[in-house]
Amino acid sequence: MALDPKQVKSDLVLILDFGSQYTHLITRRIRSLSVFSLCLNGTSSLQSITDLNPSVVILSGGPHSVHTPDSPSFPDGFIQWAQSNAVPVLGICYGLQLLVHRLGGEVRVGNTQEYGRMEIHVENQSALFPAEKVGHNQVVWMSHGDEAVTLPDGFSVVARSQQGAVAAIENPSAKFYGLQYHPEVTHTPEGMETLKHFLFDVCGVAAGWTMEDVMEEEIKVINNTVGPEEHVICALSGGVDSTVAATIVHKAIGDRLHCVFVDNGLLRYKERERVMETFEKDLHLPVVCVDAVDQFLTKLKGVTDPEIKRKIIGKEFICIFDAFAQDLEKKLGSRPAYLVQGTLYPDVIESCPPPGSGRTHSHTIKSHHNVGGLPKDMKLKLIEPLKLLFKDEVRQLGRIMDVPEGFLKRHPFPGPGLAVRVLGDVTEGNALDVLRQVDEIFIQSIKDAGLYDIIWQAFAVFLPVRSVGVQGDQRTHSHVVALRAVTSQDGMTADWYYFEHKFLDDVSRKICNGVRGVNRVVQDITSKPPSTIEWE
Ligand code: XMP
Repeated sequence: MALDPKQVKSDLVLILDFGSQYTHLITRRIRSLSVFSLCLNGTSSLQSITDLNPSVVILSGGPHSVHTPDSPSFPDGFIQWAQSNAVPVLGICYGLQLLVHRLGGEVRVGNTQEYGRMEIHVENQSALFPAEKVGHNQVVWMSHGDEAVTLPDGFSVVARSQQGAVAAIENPSAKFYGLQYHPEVTHTPEGMETLKHFLFDVCGVAAGWTMEDVMEEEIKVINNTVGPEEHVICALSGGVDSTVAATIVHKAIGDRLHCVFVDNGLLRYKERERVMETFEKDLHLPVVCVDAVDQFLTKLKGVTDPEIKRKIIGKEFICIFDAFAQDLEKKLGSRPAYLVQGTLYPDVIESCPPPGSGRTHSHTIKSHHNVGGLPKDMKLKLIEPLKLLFKDEVRQLGRIMDVPEGFLKRHPFPGPGLAVRVLGDVTEGNALDVLRQVDEIFIQSIKDAGLYDIIWQAFAVFLPVRSVGVQGDQRTHSHVVALRAVTSQDGMTADWYYFEHKFLDDVSRKICNGVRGVNRVVQDITSKPPSTIEWE
């Protein structure tokens, strides 16, 4: 159960996805204009498109050629439906070619492939470009091989590239438009202006996608779904998504929500106290903290393989959750009926896969990051209140529900916690404690230097090796710790962060002077790929 797109008050701009790497970016750009936008696989049925009652449809780009057998296309009847309902259609890149091809024009395999930054010239008075743009050149981002050479009846060319290829077309009376370039990327500096002009001036879309509305609509949906006597449970990880999801459910059903936070002994410095304070004092969430430190660490004793560590942690977590649900059942006299999960939109969007991949759709779920699913026999129905939102929208939603700003901006933290940051056996010596202290010094220094919000993720890693040092007048044989800080968009790729030498020097001194058992500090200077962000 999640927010029903049909309940959203705002006009909907539907993106039919043909596999472009930029499809989700279009959705986000449109939402940033306060217009609701969703993405649907481009080959979806006509029914699933019309059911959503979109005000505008955008056909995305994609890595295909319309001439390839089985290249993806919109369903039969789509054009007729758009025409008879006066729904404007904008094709971008492959979307433009598809429109031309399906409406009877000609698309030819391009002689010169056009990739990257280039100039286009706006030639004619048109709907796509306001009058002041006519006669102007603008820089755009192209990425295509084929080109439209003969346009279908009623269409005209309104912009061309320097090489003379079609860059923008339109048939305003039929409300069909096409851009051969990508207006959604930042490499097309005037692209957002073009999109804005298209949506508001050409299509007359109303900007009604506000987080306040989303919150209200979501609360209504939750209240209509969860019966007045039913109870809901939620496992809080201390991260942004589960916290915001629980907060909105709590707003809807109050204390029929029951949250659990597990201290598995693998949390950061004072994390348990800090997140519990936010849950209880700032958000007034009904939350039980389960102290399972011994339970986890006993199971992890002697385990060095990172995959086995992850499995043990996932299994133990489920046991605790199960016990929590059973306890609750005893107390309430009935089973909790629902489980809240902080699933986000990028986790559920189906993308059109590349041709020849043999797949009909692909999910973007990062499976190794799901520490462990909950057992099916718990028979809990799901409430996923964030299922239509991107991460920045979740933060915005949290903000209007008074989730503290510092909490919303926390760096990601893996489910298996410090178990993947202490290499080797986490129970050996006082590795976890040493790591907590080092990590706290590092993170606090980053915050003090005003760098926390620029860096995507930063943490320390405990290495199970010792080296010789000299501290005071004594030789030591102590541990090495590594510092990792990266910049990234989504964690899929990342670059290491360039600290100033003075900063690194200060942090290193603070760590060696302040933490017993560490006599050497190194920095990780690898990007992802070839390495990952966590060490494990
Ligand atoms: P890697 O190390 O694979 O990590 O480059 C990418 C991002 O995912 C986080 N991560 C996890 N997050 N559960 C999570 O919720 C996990 O098991 C998990 N493992 C890695 C990691 O911290 C980084 O932000």
